[in-house]
Amino acid sequence: MIIITGGTGRLGCQIVDRLLDRVSADRVGVSVRDTDRAGDLAVRGVRVRRGDFTDPGSLTDAFEGATQVLIVSTNQTGEAAIAQHVAAIDAARDVGAKRILYTSHQGAAEDSVFAPMPDHAATERYLSKTGTPFTVLRNGFYASTVQHLLGRALETGELVAPADGPVSWTAHADLAEAAAIILADEGRFDGPTPPLTAPDALDLADITSIVTELTGRTIRRVVADDEAWTATIIGHGVPADQANMLLGMFHAARRGEFSTTGPELENLLQRTATPIRSTLEGLTTQP
Ligand SMILES: NC(=O)c1ccc[n+]([C@@H]2O[C@H](COP(=O)([O-])OP(=O)(O)OC[C@H]3O[C@@H](n4cnc5c(N)ncnc54)[C@H](OP(=O)(O)O)[C@@H]3O)[C@@H](O)[C@H]2O)c1
Repeated sequence: MIIITGGTGRLGCQIVDRLLDRVSADRVGVSVRDTDRAGDLAVRGVRVRRGDFTDPGSLTDAFEGATQVLIVSTNQTGEAAIAQHVAAIDAARDVGAKRILYTSHQGAAEDSVFAPMPDHAATERYLSKTGTPFTVLRNGFYASTVQHLLGRALETGELVAPADGPVSWTAHADLAEAAAIILADEGRFDGPTPPLTAPDALDLADITSIVTELTGRTIRRVVADDEAWTATIIGHGVPADQANMLLGMFHAARRGEFSTTGPELENLLQRTATPIRSTLEGLTTQP
């Protein structure tokens, strides 16, 4: 049985959907914090069990009988995130899974200045020492992030943000399909995958150019001072630790940490990856 954690999250639920295109439902299980939210999956024949990374006993039950466990990384950061991933890896190993998979990031690195990246690197390191065959999915940067970065740019005509750099904007749907393909073809990748990204890395100036083309309205890229920008978003109610983490994302992008792209995602999908332009089309045509 193939177990997927985070089956009620945005990536996890799409992975399950795409996996059900490839294997029968009786071979698929989800480990979710709230089983009531996975009722639709249970109806489709997927095994639904409660599994919380902070409750190792629940994971033992949720992972029972697993041949492969795909751990979708938690939406926590720092030591809490690493502890949750370690608990999930240990549980997958202890139930005798033949392969453990983990959704990492294309920019995973111990020395990254964007907080989630060292978390991914630490998880990868732990996973590599577990003794169970493993696959690390080095996912591209979610294209959905662009919506948050655009903020009110469509209203104001200005995208105001700190200096940035090129980023491998990649669609959830493409990453989910790639994960499903890899799960259905067990062992296709052993260890870290090459970067699973859309083919182009674009910075925010590129993004504003595309939005300008799509909307016919000029959107200017305005580079904000780091400290002033951070103070402004804190003033708008963003907690200080989150604001500083976001600033770290811009610093990392400036250093080129998210600029690496590769053909592997498109090779897996056997089609073109969703271009950021399509994501932006969706955003700019929303009522
Ligand atoms: N590649 C990128 O650019 C990028 C960007 C942002 C985040 N990420 C990572 O990718 C992951 C998946 O993305 P997403 O869009 O699907 O995010 P999401 O919708 O927030 O999903 C996060 C999942 O983690 C689960 N989770 C949180 N705490 C847990 C716990 N204690 N035990 C078990 N599960 C727990 C959540 O469970 P519930 O469904 O019960 O809430 C949810 O399903 C994120 O969590 C984050 O680690 C990657």
